[in-house]
Amino acid sequence: MAARKRASSRAIATATDTDTSKSETPTSQEHADPPIAPPKSGLIFKLCLFFAIPYFYLLFYHYKIESELQRSILINAGLSLAGFFITQKMIPVASRYVLRRNLFGYDINKKGTPQGTIKVPESLGIVVGAVFLVLAILFQYFNFTADSNWLVEYNAALASICFMLLLGFVDDVLDVPWRVKLILPSFAALPLLMAYAGHTSIIIPKPLVPYVGLEILDLGWIYKLYMFLLAVFCTNSINIHAGLNGLEVGQTVVIASAILLHNIMQIGASLDPEYKQAHAFSIYLVQPLLATSLALFSYNWYPSSVFVGDTYTYFAGMTMAVVGILGHFSETLLIFFLPQVLNFLLSVPQLFGFVKCPRHRLPGFNPQTGLLTGTNDGTLVNFFLRLFGKMSEGSLCAALLVFQAIACCLCFVLRYFLTGWYK
Ligand code: UD1
Ligand code: MG
Repeated sequence: MAARKRASSRAIATATDTDTSKSETPTSQEHADPPIAPPKSGLIFKLCLFFAIPYFYLLFYHYKIESELQRSILINAGLSLAGFFITQKMIPVASRYVLRRNLFGYDINKKGTPQGTIKVPESLGIVVGAVFLVLAILFQYFNFTADSNWLVEYNAALASICFMLLLGFVDDVLDVPWRVKLILPSFAALPLLMAYAGHTSIIIPKPLVPYVGLEILDLGWIYKLYMFLLAVFCTNSINIHAGLNGLEVGQTVVIASAILLHNIMQIGASLDPEYKQAHAFSIYLVQPLLATSLALFSYNWYPSSVFVGDTYTYFAGMTMAVVGILGHFSETLLIFFLPQVLNFLLSVPQLFGFVKCPRHRLPGFNPQTGLLTGTNDGTLVNFFLRLFGKMSEGSLCAALLVFQAIACCLCFVLRYFLTGWYK
C-alpha cells in the first residue's frame, strides 16, 4: 500500500510541478517490466585491482602488522567478498519485488529519450544495507582482538546504521518532504551517542597550544554535540550530492577506499594498541561497506539499471560518520568529504530557504545532443557544468568522482606534511 502511495505522490507532483526536471508518467512501458541489464562487472574488476594491490601490499608487506590483526582483517575481507557476490545476485531479485510494489523512479537526465521512459527500480540500497548488517553482525565471532568495550560500541554503531537504513527506506516509500529528510539522521544517531563511552577530549593542534594554554581539552557534552552534527552532516551531504547515474555509490566507493588506506597507514605507523583498535574498528565496517557498494555500483553506474534510493545514501553516510567518530579521525574524514562540503556550501541558500528550492536540483538535459547543461541551482554538479561546459552524464559523473579522489589524495598529502607540526 505504502509503495503505491509513493507512485501516486510522484504522479501528483508531476502533474502540479512546473519544474522541467520532473519525470513524466509514460504509458508505453506501463505493464512491461523487463529484467534489469546485467552488472558492469568488467568495470568493477578493474576498480578492485586498482585498489586491492596497494591495499594488500600495505597490509601484508609494507608495515609490520601483528598477525592476529592481519588475520581478523583478512577474515573480514573474505566475508566482504562473499557479501559482494550475494549483493550482486540479490539486486535483480529485489528489483523485481520493488517494481511490483511500484517503487521506481524515472531517469530525469534522460527525459525525452526512450531510456527516460523506463521504470528504474528504486531503493536498492536496502539490499546493500541488509547484506552489510548480516556481515557486520557475523563478524563479531571472528574478531580475535576485541574486548567487551569494543563490542558495546560496535553494536551501538550497528544500531545507528540499522536505524538509518530503516528511516531511509521509510523516506523512499513515503517520499517525505525534504526538510523532514534533513532531520531523519538525528534520530538514527541516538543509539551511537547514548552508548558512546569513549573520551570527549581533543588534542589541541601544536601551533595553537600557546594561545589555548592546554595540550588536551576536554569538551564534555560539546564533543557529543559535534558527533551528532557530524552524523547529520555526513548522511545529508551524500544524499544531496546526487542525481547522476553512479554518483551516490561512486562517491561512497572513493571515500571508503580512502578510509581503508588511511586506517592501514595509521595501524602500520602506530605502536599504541588502543589507537590501532580504533582504526581496526573502522576497517571491519568499511570493508563490507565497500564490497557491497561495489556490487550496487555494478548496476548503478551509467546507464543505471537500478537507483539506490535515500535508503542507500543515508545508510552509507551514517556508516562513514560512525567509523570517523569511533575511529577518532573525524577531521581526516571531513577532508575526504571536501566535495560534499563544497556542495553543501553551494546549497546553503536553497537549503535554508533564502532561494527557492525545487524538488530536484538537476542540470538541464538536451535529448538531441545527449548533453547536460548547468542550471542556477546551487550544487557542485551544476557548478562543474558551468565551469567546464556541457558534458554527457557519464563524463560528468566520472569528473566528479575524480575530483573526489583528488580531495582524498590532497588529504593524504596534507597529513604527510602536517604530521608532527600540527599534532
Ligand atoms: C536529492 C536532492 C535533489 C536531487 C536528488 C537526486 C537536494 C535538496 N535534494 O533529493 O536535488 O535531484 O537528490 O537523487 O539537494 N534520479 C535520477 N538519476 C539518478 C539518481 C536519481 O534521475 O542517477 C532521480 C530519479 O527520479 C529518482 C530520484 O532522483 O527516483 C530520487 O530522488 P531522491 O533521492 O528521492 O531525492 P532527494 O534525496 O529528496
Ligand atoms: Mg536521495
